[in-house]
Amino acid sequence: MPAAGFGPGPGNGKQYPGNLTLYVTVTCMVAAMGGLIFGYDIGISGGVTTMDPFLKKFFPSVYEKQKADTSTNQYCKFDSQRLTMFTSSLYLAALASSLVASWVTRKLGRKLSMLFGGLLFCAGALINGFAQKVWMLIVGRILLGFGIGFANQSVPLYLSEMAPYKYRGALNIGFQLSITIGILVASVLNYFFAKIKGGWGWRLSLGGAVVPALIITIGSLVLPETPNSMIERDQREEARIKLKRIRGVEDIEEEFNDLVAASDASKKVEHPWRNLLQRKYRPHLTMAILIPFFQQLTGINVIMFYAPVLFKTIGFGSDAALMSAVITGVVNVSATLVSIYGVDKWGRRFLFLQGGAQMLICQIVVAACIGAKFGIDGEPGNLPKWYAIVVVLFICIYVAGFAWSWGPLGWLVPSEIFPLEIRSAAQSINVSVNMIFTFIIAQVFLMMLCHLKFGLFIFFAFFVVVMTIFVYFFLPETKNIPIEEMVIVWKQHWFWSRFITDVDYPANGAVEMGKGGDSTKYV
Ligand code: BGC
Repeated sequence: MPAAGFGPGPGNGKQYPGNLTLYVTVTCMVAAMGGLIFGYDIGISGGVTTMDPFLKKFFPSVYEKQKADTSTNQYCKFDSQRLTMFTSSLYLAALASSLVASWVTRKLGRKLSMLFGGLLFCAGALINGFAQKVWMLIVGRILLGFGIGFANQSVPLYLSEMAPYKYRGALNIGFQLSITIGILVASVLNYFFAKIKGGWGWRLSLGGAVVPALIITIGSLVLPETPNSMIERDQREEARIKLKRIRGVEDIEEEFNDLVAASDASKKVEHPWRNLLQRKYRPHLTMAILIPFFQQLTGINVIMFYAPVLFKTIGFGSDAALMSAVITGVVNVSATLVSIYGVDKWGRRFLFLQGGAQMLICQIVVAACIGAKFGIDGEPGNLPKWYAIVVVLFICIYVAGFAWSWGPLGWLVPSEIFPLEIRSAAQSINVSVNMIFTFIIAQVFLMMLCHLKFGLFIFFAFFVVVMTIFVYFFLPETKNIPIEEMVIVWKQHWFWSRFITDVDYPANGAVEMGKGGDSTKYV
């Protein structure tokens, strides 16, 4: 049985020397900006597809249908498969490119993957900003998707490898912070660009993606490579010097030797993908699939993509609806800061469990509020002001719960649990599963709203219950454990230990997947 506590204190197993140097902090901040492109896109698409001039130009039939629709059933007003296909096509492209990125990240380094990410996203943004025909929009979005696949594959790994292990959580969450900043900036821009008289504001919204793209492109050119990746690519001496610089101490031998050992183990692996199927990687593979799956099944992107539509549905005017999206955006950024503060102190499990409980309560309240007013037929009657305020308030508390739990941890935990030999491949699975479920939710949400009505929130609430139970029983605490030492947490877990044999985790510390420390329980 799992212990109910939230994991051990620091200091079991290895304790590599090293400081939170200015160098590593700045490096990680620059790299984390790779999240901006993903966030900007999430925030921009929903708003653009509610702009009339954009719809008239590219999706006239959708526009006509919306205008002609006199039905008062609020649940089904916005259901259009073609339009959602525009939004969600990007995620399929991202899925495909993260698989290619796995190879680039492993063989050519993390930096190059980031550079490709930036360049592809830049190209996509330009084509979209100047789009004349639907095909240009689609090509642009595919390029954006390719860019996101590369960036999301490499940036979280880069951050987790660079960071001193005691600050890994906080530094890695810089990625999620950038995602949330990207979303917020995009919603604010949409709000203003939608008001531009000539109706071409959408061009600025879409073309504006060039800015975050340039940030990651230039960033990737100036960033150093991670020591792990340098060793993996036979640049040992450079890696040793770099590690000293990053950690700000001379005494890096123990960490360096472990990185070399991990790299040697990794070299023996010719087929990282096939390798993933080995029994000893069962815990990793399970997490690489379930963590992103659960992250998307929190239902967060219903709010991120469709907040304006959702707020319109519950009776807000257009302007107020866009404004509410800005409010949830601010909450999203602020709550991520809480996570940065707490993740290495309180641990991952605490945040997962607390955030899960908070999201669950909010989903039930929102379902009840919408159900009470709109009923089964979607006819709201008169909506009092207090009612709208309660709904927005609980949506905000829900977003906060996500923003300090599944949001950042959905990227952090996978990036820190994979041993080097499968890291790249497993991270691609993480990104792919994330993208496919983002795609599915973006694609079917409006249809689900139309059919499940307020029950939609109950649907996601059900999954929040499942994922919280899953974390409680199956996810070990990973705070304060060096990344190349992670095998310890599986070996000492009540369930996963059965997959790790003594060959994988020899008592005397010889490495295959990493070395073991003492026997303190990591639960
Ligand atoms: C998720 C996105 C989501 C965003 C919201 C990210 O961690 O992967 O799908 O839109 O958080 O902040």
